[in-house]
Amino acid sequence: MEHRTKHQTVSLNQEGNAVEILDQTLLPNQVRILQLKTAQEIWDAIYLLKVRGAPAIGVTAALGIYILAKNLQTEDYSIFLQEFTKYKEYLESSRPTAVNLSWALNRMEAVCKKEENSTTEEIKERLKREALAIQEEDIKVCRKIGEYGLELLQPGNGILTHCNAGYLAACEYGTATAPIYLGQEKGYGFRVFADETRPLLQGARLTAYELASDGVDVTLICDNMSAMVMKKGWVDAVLVGCDRVAANGDTANKIGTSVVAMVAKHYNIPFYVCAPTATIDRSISTGEMIPVEERPSHEVTEMWYKERMAPQGIQVYNPAFDITDHQLITAIITEYGIARPPFTQSLKEIFDKKSYNQ
Ligand code: MRU
Repeated sequence: MEHRTKHQTVSLNQEGNAVEILDQTLLPNQVRILQLKTAQEIWDAIYLLKVRGAPAIGVTAALGIYILAKNLQTEDYSIFLQEFTKYKEYLESSRPTAVNLSWALNRMEAVCKKEENSTTEEIKERLKREALAIQEEDIKVCRKIGEYGLELLQPGNGILTHCNAGYLAACEYGTATAPIYLGQEKGYGFRVFADETRPLLQGARLTAYELASDGVDVTLICDNMSAMVMKKGWVDAVLVGCDRVAANGDTANKIGTSVVAMVAKHYNIPFYVCAPTATIDRSISTGEMIPVEERPSHEVTEMWYKERMAPQGIQVYNPAFDITDHQLITAIITEYGIARPPFTQSLKEIFDKKSYNQ
Protein backbone atom coordinates (compact mmCIF):
# COMPACT_ATOMS: atom_id res chain seq x y z
CA MET A 1 0.00 0.00 0.00
CA GLU A 2 1.17 3.51 -0.76
CA HIS A 3 2.19 5.93 1.92
CA ARG A 4 -0.70 8.17 2.79
CA THR A 5 1.40 11.26 2.50
CA LYS A 6 3.90 12.38 -0.10
CA HIS A 7 6.17 13.03 2.84
CA GLN A 8 7.14 10.37 5.31
CA THR A 9 6.94 11.25 8.99
CA VAL A 10 10.48 10.02 9.58
CA SER A 11 13.03 8.22 7.43
CA LEU A 12 16.71 7.92 6.63
CA ASN A 13 17.53 10.45 3.91
CA GLN A 14 18.66 9.30 0.48
CA GLU A 15 22.33 10.04 1.14
CA GLY A 16 22.09 8.01 4.36
CA ASN A 17 23.62 10.81 6.42
CA ALA A 18 20.61 12.38 8.18
CA VAL A 19 17.25 11.61 9.73
CA GLU A 20 14.64 13.21 7.52
CA ILE A 21 11.50 14.39 9.27
CA LEU A 22 8.38 16.30 8.38
CA ASP A 23 8.29 19.29 10.74
CA GLN A 24 4.96 18.75 12.51
CA THR A 25 5.02 22.08 14.30
CA LEU A 26 4.32 23.80 10.96
CA LEU A 27 1.40 21.61 9.87
CA PRO A 28 -1.18 22.03 8.48
CA ASN A 29 -0.12 25.34 6.93
CA GLN A 30 3.36 24.51 5.78
CA VAL A 31 5.14 21.35 4.69
CA ARG A 32 8.82 21.55 5.58
CA ILE A 33 11.26 18.67 5.57
CA LEU A 34 14.17 18.80 8.01
CA GLN A 35 17.46 16.93 7.89
CA LEU A 36 18.73 16.07 11.37
CA LYS A 37 22.44 15.34 11.57
CA THR A 38 23.73 16.27 15.01
CA ALA A 39 22.78 15.00 18.45
CA GLN A 40 21.51 18.47 19.35
CA GLU A 41 19.30 18.62 16.23
CA ILE A 42 17.79 15.22 16.95
CA TRP A 43 17.22 16.03 20.63
CA ASP A 44 15.62 19.39 19.81
CA ALA A 45 13.37 17.89 17.13
CA ILE A 46 11.99 15.39 19.65
CA TYR A 47 11.73 17.85 22.55
CA LEU A 48 10.11 20.58 20.44
CA LEU A 49 7.62 18.07 18.94
CA LYS A 50 8.83 18.58 15.39
CA VAL A 51 8.58 14.83 15.40
CA ARG A 52 6.23 13.41 18.01
CA GLY A 53 3.97 10.49 18.83
CA ALA A 54 5.38 7.46 20.61
CA PRO A 55 6.22 5.23 17.60
CA ALA A 56 7.71 8.10 15.54
CA ILE A 57 9.87 9.17 18.49
CA GLY A 58 11.23 5.61 18.74
CA VAL A 59 12.03 5.43 15.02
CA THR A 60 13.68 8.89 15.09
CA ALA A 61 15.87 7.85 18.02
CA ALA A 62 16.89 4.61 16.29
CA LEU A 63 17.78 6.30 13.00
CA GLY A 64 19.33 9.20 14.88
CA ILE A 65 21.69 7.13 16.97
CA TYR A 66 22.71 5.21 13.86
CA ILE A 67 23.70 8.52 12.18
CA LEU A 68 25.63 9.60 15.27
CA ALA A 69 27.38 6.24 15.58
CA LYS A 70 28.21 6.27 11.88
CA ASN A 71 30.14 9.51 12.36
CA LEU A 72 32.27 8.14 15.21
CA GLN A 73 35.87 8.11 14.05
CA THR A 74 37.33 5.24 16.02
CA GLU A 75 38.20 1.63 15.44
CA ASP A 76 38.45 0.92 19.16
CA TYR A 77 35.38 -1.00 20.35
CA SER A 78 35.39 0.29 23.94
CA ILE A 79 35.69 3.93 22.84
CA PHE A 80 32.94 3.34 20.29
CA LEU A 81 30.64 1.85 22.94
CA GLN A 82 31.45 4.62 25.40
CA GLU A 83 30.55 7.33 22.86
CA PHE A 84 27.47 5.42 21.76
CA THR A 85 26.28 5.20 25.37
CA LYS A 86 26.71 8.96 25.84
CA TYR A 87 24.55 9.64 22.77
CA LYS A 88 21.99 7.11 23.96
CA GLU A 89 21.65 8.75 27.36
CA TYR A 90 21.43 12.18 25.78
CA LEU A 91 18.67 11.23 23.32
CA GLU A 92 16.81 9.33 26.06
CA SER A 93 16.61 12.57 28.06
CA SER A 94 14.61 14.37 25.35
CA ARG A 95 11.17 13.17 26.50
CA PRO A 96 10.33 10.90 29.46
CA THR A 97 6.88 9.41 28.92
CA ALA A 98 6.78 7.51 25.62
CA VAL A 99 8.59 4.27 26.37
CA ASN A 100 9.26 3.71 22.65
CA LEU A 101 12.20 6.11 22.99
CA SER A 102 14.17 3.94 25.42
CA TRP A 103 12.79 0.76 23.85
CA ALA A 104 14.28 1.70 20.46
CA LEU A 105 17.56 2.95 21.94
CA ASN A 106 17.90 -0.24 24.02
CA ARG A 107 17.47 -2.30 20.87
CA MET A 108 20.20 -0.30 19.17
CA GLU A 109 22.48 -0.64 22.19
CA ALA A 110 21.92 -4.41 22.26
CA VAL A 111 23.28 -4.56 18.69
CA CYS A 112 26.50 -2.80 19.77
CA LYS A 113 26.92 -5.06 22.77
CA LYS A 114 26.37 -8.23 20.75
CA GLU A 115 28.98 -7.24 18.16
CA GLU A 116 31.93 -6.90 20.51
CA ASN A 117 34.15 -8.94 18.20
CA SER A 118 33.21 -7.07 15.02
CA THR A 119 34.93 -4.04 13.54
CA THR A 120 33.32 -0.67 14.16
CA GLU A 121 32.48 -0.50 10.43
CA GLU A 122 30.59 -3.79 10.74
CA ILE A 123 28.79 -2.54 13.85
CA LYS A 124 27.71 0.61 11.99
CA GLU A 125 26.23 -1.57 9.23
CA ARG A 126 24.35 -3.70 11.78
CA LEU A 127 23.04 -0.54 13.47
CA LYS A 128 21.72 0.71 10.16
CA ARG A 129 19.90 -2.57 9.56
CA GLU A 130 18.40 -2.52 13.06
CA ALA A 131 17.16 1.08 12.74
CA LEU A 132 15.56 0.34 9.36
CA ALA A 133 14.01 -2.83 10.81
CA ILE A 134 12.45 -0.78 13.63
CA GLN A 135 10.97 1.56 11.03
CA GLU A 136 9.71 -1.29 8.85
CA GLU A 137 8.23 -3.18 11.82
CA ASP A 138 6.27 -0.10 12.85
CA ILE A 139 4.37 -0.20 9.56
CA LYS A 140 3.51 -3.89 9.96
CA VAL A 141 2.57 -3.46 13.62
CA CYS A 142 0.20 -0.57 12.87
CA ARG A 143 -1.40 -2.53 10.03
CA LYS A 144 -2.07 -5.49 12.36
CA ILE A 145 -3.54 -3.13 14.98
CA GLY A 146 -5.77 -1.79 12.22
CA GLU A 147 -6.97 -5.28 11.32
CA TYR A 148 -7.75 -6.26 14.93
CA GLY A 149 -9.31 -2.87 15.63
CA LEU A 150 -11.59 -3.11 12.63
CA GLU A 151 -13.09 -6.32 14.06
CA LEU A 152 -14.52 -4.19 16.89
CA LEU A 153 -16.23 -1.66 14.62
CA GLN A 154 -19.25 -1.56 12.35
CA PRO A 155 -19.78 0.31 9.07
CA GLY A 156 -21.14 3.79 9.71
CA ASN A 157 -19.78 3.96 13.28
CA GLY A 158 -19.02 7.28 14.91
CA ILE A 159 -15.50 7.24 16.36
CA LEU A 160 -13.94 9.77 18.70
CA THR A 161 -10.18 10.15 18.98
CA HIS A 162 -7.91 12.35 21.08
CA CYS A 163 -4.55 13.86 20.16
CA ASN A 164 -2.85 12.45 17.08
CA ALA A 165 -2.20 8.72 16.93
CA GLY A 166 -2.19 8.76 13.14
CA TYR A 167 0.49 8.18 10.53
CA LEU A 168 2.09 11.44 11.63
CA ALA A 169 2.76 9.80 14.99
CA ALA A 170 4.15 6.66 13.39
CA CYS A 171 5.47 5.60 9.97
CA GLU A 172 2.26 4.56 8.24
CA TYR A 173 -1.39 3.96 9.25
CA GLY A 174 -0.86 5.21 12.82
CA THR A 175 -2.26 3.23 15.73
CA ALA A 176 -5.68 4.67 16.65
CA THR A 177 -6.24 5.69 13.02
CA ALA A 178 -5.20 2.32 11.55
CA PRO A 179 -8.71 0.77 11.92
CA ILE A 180 -10.15 3.99 10.48
CA TYR A 181 -7.88 3.88 7.40
CA LEU A 182 -8.49 0.17 6.81
CA GLY A 183 -12.23 0.74 7.23
CA GLN A 184 -12.03 3.63 4.80
CA GLU A 185 -10.48 1.29 2.20
CA LYS A 186 -13.42 -1.07 2.66
CA GLY A 187 -16.00 1.71 2.37
CA TYR A 188 -17.07 1.56 6.04
CA GLY A 189 -17.97 5.26 6.03
CA PHE A 190 -16.87 6.05 9.58
CA ARG A 191 -17.64 9.49 11.03
CA VAL A 192 -14.71 10.63 13.12
CA PHE A 193 -14.65 13.28 15.84
CA ALA A 194 -11.18 14.68 16.45
CA ASP A 195 -10.60 16.42 19.78
CA GLU A 196 -8.50 19.52 19.18
CA THR A 197 -6.22 18.51 22.10
CA ARG A 198 -5.09 21.51 24.09
CA PRO A 199 -2.52 22.91 24.57
CA LEU A 200 -0.55 21.85 21.48
CA LEU A 201 -3.51 21.13 19.21
CA GLN A 202 -2.31 17.83 17.78
CA GLY A 203 -5.94 16.93 17.06
CA ALA A 204 -6.73 20.15 15.20
CA ARG A 205 -3.43 20.57 13.39
CA LEU A 206 -2.54 16.93 12.71
CA THR A 207 -5.42 14.45 13.08
CA ALA A 208 -7.95 16.68 11.32
CA TYR A 209 -5.35 17.36 8.61
CA GLU A 210 -4.33 13.79 7.95
CA LEU A 211 -7.83 12.28 8.06
CA ALA A 212 -9.35 15.01 5.92
CA SER A 213 -6.50 14.71 3.38
CA ASP A 214 -7.33 11.03 3.12
CA GLY A 215 -11.02 11.67 2.51
CA VAL A 216 -12.22 10.49 5.93
CA ASP A 217 -15.39 12.19 7.26
CA VAL A 218 -13.84 14.08 10.19
CA THR A 219 -15.31 16.74 12.44
CA LEU A 220 -13.14 18.83 14.71
CA ILE A 221 -14.39 19.46 18.26
CA CYS A 222 -12.89 21.26 21.25
CA ASP A 223 -11.68 19.06 24.10
CA ASN A 224 -14.62 20.00 26.29
CA MET A 225 -17.19 18.83 23.73
CA SER A 226 -16.78 15.07 23.97
CA ALA A 227 -19.66 14.67 26.45
CA MET A 228 -21.92 16.60 24.09
CA VAL A 229 -21.28 14.41 21.06
CA MET A 230 -21.48 11.25 23.17
CA LYS A 231 -24.79 12.28 24.74
CA LYS A 232 -26.18 12.93 21.29
CA GLY A 233 -25.39 9.31 20.40
CA TRP A 234 -22.89 10.24 17.72
CA VAL A 235 -20.04 8.17 19.13
CA ASP A 236 -19.99 4.36 19.02
CA ALA A 237 -16.38 3.88 20.06
CA VAL A 238 -13.37 5.82 21.29
CA LEU A 239 -9.99 4.93 19.80
CA VAL A 240 -6.83 6.43 21.28
CA GLY A 241 -3.12 5.77 21.11
CA CYS A 242 -0.75 5.57 24.05
CA ASP A 243 2.71 6.54 25.20
CA ARG A 244 3.19 3.88 27.85
CA VAL A 245 0.98 1.10 29.16
CA ALA A 246 1.74 -0.44 32.56
CA ALA A 247 1.42 -4.18 33.25
CA ASN A 248 -2.07 -3.68 34.76
CA GLY A 249 -3.32 -1.76 31.70
CA ASP A 250 -3.10 1.77 33.16
CA THR A 251 -2.31 3.91 30.13
CA ALA A 252 -0.40 7.16 29.68
CA ASN A 253 -1.60 9.14 26.69
CA LYS A 254 -1.97 12.80 25.77
CA ILE A 255 -3.38 15.00 28.52
CA GLY A 256 -7.18 14.87 28.45
CA THR A 257 -7.43 11.22 27.46
CA SER A 258 -8.56 10.09 30.91
CA VAL A 259 -11.44 12.59 30.91
CA VAL A 260 -12.61 11.18 27.59
CA ALA A 261 -12.44 7.67 29.08
CA MET A 262 -14.54 8.73 32.08
CA VAL A 263 -17.18 10.32 29.87
CA ALA A 264 -17.22 7.25 27.60
CA LYS A 265 -17.77 5.01 30.64
CA HIS A 266 -20.69 7.22 31.70
CA TYR A 267 -22.35 6.83 28.31
CA ASN A 268 -21.45 3.13 28.03
CA ILE A 269 -19.29 3.68 24.98
CA PRO A 270 -16.34 1.30 24.48
CA PHE A 271 -12.95 2.90 25.03
CA TYR A 272 -10.14 1.22 23.10
CA VAL A 273 -6.42 1.84 23.49
CA CYS A 274 -4.38 1.00 20.38
CA ALA A 275 -0.97 -0.13 21.62
CA PRO A 276 2.02 -1.56 19.79
CA THR A 277 3.72 -3.98 22.21
CA ALA A 278 6.72 -1.60 22.03
CA THR A 279 4.58 0.86 24.02
CA ILE A 280 3.67 -1.67 26.72
CA ASP A 281 6.06 -1.49 29.66
CA ARG A 282 5.50 -4.58 31.77
CA SER A 283 8.43 -3.65 33.99
CA ILE A 284 6.09 -1.28 35.80
CA SER A 285 3.07 -2.66 37.57
CA THR A 286 0.78 0.39 37.56
CA GLY A 287 0.41 3.77 35.91
CA GLU A 288 1.60 5.52 39.07
CA MET A 289 5.13 4.58 38.07
CA ILE A 290 4.93 6.23 34.63
CA PRO A 291 6.98 9.44 34.45
CA VAL A 292 4.76 12.24 33.23
CA GLU A 293 6.40 15.02 31.26
CA GLU A 294 5.70 18.59 32.32
CA ARG A 295 6.17 21.22 29.66
CA PRO A 296 6.75 24.99 29.73
CA SER A 297 3.98 27.41 30.63
CA HIS A 298 4.14 29.41 27.38
CA GLU A 299 2.54 26.43 25.58
CA VAL A 300 -0.62 27.17 27.58
CA THR A 301 -0.51 30.96 27.73
CA GLU A 302 0.90 32.02 24.36
CA MET A 303 1.61 29.36 21.82
CA TRP A 304 -0.81 29.33 18.84
CA TYR A 305 -2.42 32.58 19.95
CA LYS A 306 -1.82 35.92 18.20
CA GLU A 307 -1.12 37.44 21.57
CA ARG A 308 -0.73 36.23 25.14
CA MET A 309 -4.05 34.91 26.51
CA ALA A 310 -3.34 34.85 30.23
CA PRO A 311 -2.19 37.38 32.80
CA GLN A 312 1.56 37.96 32.99
CA GLY A 313 3.14 35.90 35.74
CA ILE A 314 0.16 33.53 36.17
CA GLN A 315 1.02 30.09 37.59
CA VAL A 316 0.60 27.34 35.01
CA TYR A 317 0.57 23.57 35.37
CA ASN A 318 1.22 21.87 32.03
CA PRO A 319 1.47 18.07 32.23
CA ALA A 320 1.74 16.62 28.71
CA PHE A 321 0.09 13.29 29.57
CA ASP A 322 -2.37 11.76 31.98
CA ILE A 323 -2.92 8.20 33.10
CA THR A 324 -6.16 6.50 32.20
CA ASP A 325 -7.12 3.99 34.85
CA HIS A 326 -7.30 0.44 33.48
CA GLN A 327 -10.85 0.13 34.81
CA LEU A 328 -11.98 2.67 32.22
CA ILE A 329 -10.46 0.74 29.30
CA THR A 330 -12.62 -1.74 27.40
CA ALA A 331 -9.75 -3.36 25.49
CA ILE A 332 -6.14 -2.81 24.44
CA ILE A 333 -5.56 -3.54 20.77
CA THR A 334 -2.04 -4.78 19.99
CA GLU A 335 -0.38 -6.29 16.92
CA TYR A 336 -0.72 -9.70 18.60
CA GLY A 337 -4.43 -9.44 19.28
CA ILE A 338 -6.93 -7.81 21.60
CA ALA A 339 -6.32 -7.78 25.34
CA ARG A 340 -9.35 -7.50 27.62
CA PRO A 341 -9.59 -7.14 31.41
CA PRO A 342 -8.00 -8.34 33.58
CA PHE A 343 -5.09 -6.79 31.69
CA THR A 344 -2.28 -8.14 33.87
CA GLN A 345 -3.23 -11.59 32.60
CA SER A 346 -4.24 -10.70 29.03
CA LEU A 347 -1.16 -8.54 28.38
CA LYS A 348 1.02 -11.36 29.66
CA GLU A 349 -0.67 -13.67 27.13
CA ILE A 350 -0.02 -11.10 24.37
CA PHE A 351 3.69 -11.10 25.27
CA ASP A 352 3.78 -14.92 25.45
CA LYS A 353 2.37 -14.96 21.93
CA LYS A 354 4.97 -12.38 20.87
CA SER A 355 7.91 -14.38 22.20
CA TYR A 356 6.50 -17.56 20.65
CA ASN A 357 6.37 -15.82 17.26
CA GLN A 358 9.88 -14.33 17.42
O1 MRU B 1 3.09 14.99 22.92
P1 MRU B 1 2.84 14.08 21.76
O2 MRU B 1 2.23 14.76 20.60
O3 MRU B 1 4.07 13.28 21.39
O4 MRU B 1 1.78 13.05 22.33
C1 MRU B 1 1.35 12.01 21.49
C2 MRU B 1 0.30 11.17 22.05
O5 MRU B 1 -0.08 11.28 23.20
C3 MRU B 1 -0.21 10.08 21.16
O6 MRU B 1 -1.56 9.85 21.39
C4 MRU B 1 0.58 8.81 21.46
O7 MRU B 1 1.95 9.06 21.37
C5 MRU B 1 0.21 7.70 20.57
S1 MRU B 1 0.88 7.90 18.96
C6 MRU B 1 0.51 6.53 18.03
